[in-house]
Amino acid sequence: MIRLLYFSQATYLISNEHVQQILEASRRNNPAVGVTGILVHGGGLFMQVLEGPEQAVLRLYVKILDDNRHSNSEIIYITPTDKRIFENWSMGSINCSDALRFEQIKMLQSQRKEVVSTKVFTDVMHAFLKMLNADQLHKS
Ligand SMILES: Cc1cc2nc3c(=O)[nH]c(=O)nc-3n(C[C@H](O)[C@H](O)[C@H](O)COP(=O)(O)O)c2cc1C
Repeated sequence: MIRLLYFSQATYLISNEHVQQILEASRRNNPAVGVTGILVHGGGLFMQVLEGPEQAVLRLYVKILDDNRHSNSEIIYITPTDKRIFENWSMGSINCSDALRFEQIKMLQSQRKEVVSTKVFTDVMHAFLKMLNADQLHKS
């Protein structure tokens, strides 16, 4: 298995409806290929974690890259792993539209040079999720 984390820029103002469409596609497609993860959106940015079998994750990422709702995608982190963080989520979502939360997301981006091991990444991710209110998390 691998875990991949990327950022991208929304190409236009993303409404809740757009996000819902993305989540619907994710929840429709991801379980069949064994991919789980989380989609964080807000401030004109997307951040997504995809975890699952290597082929499935890479194939899905290439498909997502083609989506014109976003561009300038940058992989922040990719690693082999035998443990999922978002085990029960075909695609969780967090709306980080307020500025404070947006800064917290960007912190992850800036930490990427330091994020070297799965353990560190997992800790950073858990700390990040903890910073957000639990009610921001929409399990699927
Ligand atoms: C930021 C972003 C994240 C996405 N994540 C997923 C995903 O995890 N799974 C998925 O199937 N589609 C995802 N999509 C949508 C795909 O690009 C594509 O529109 C969708 O998979 C098409 O579904 P279909 O093949 O069932 O028509 C995402 C799109 C964007 C813009």
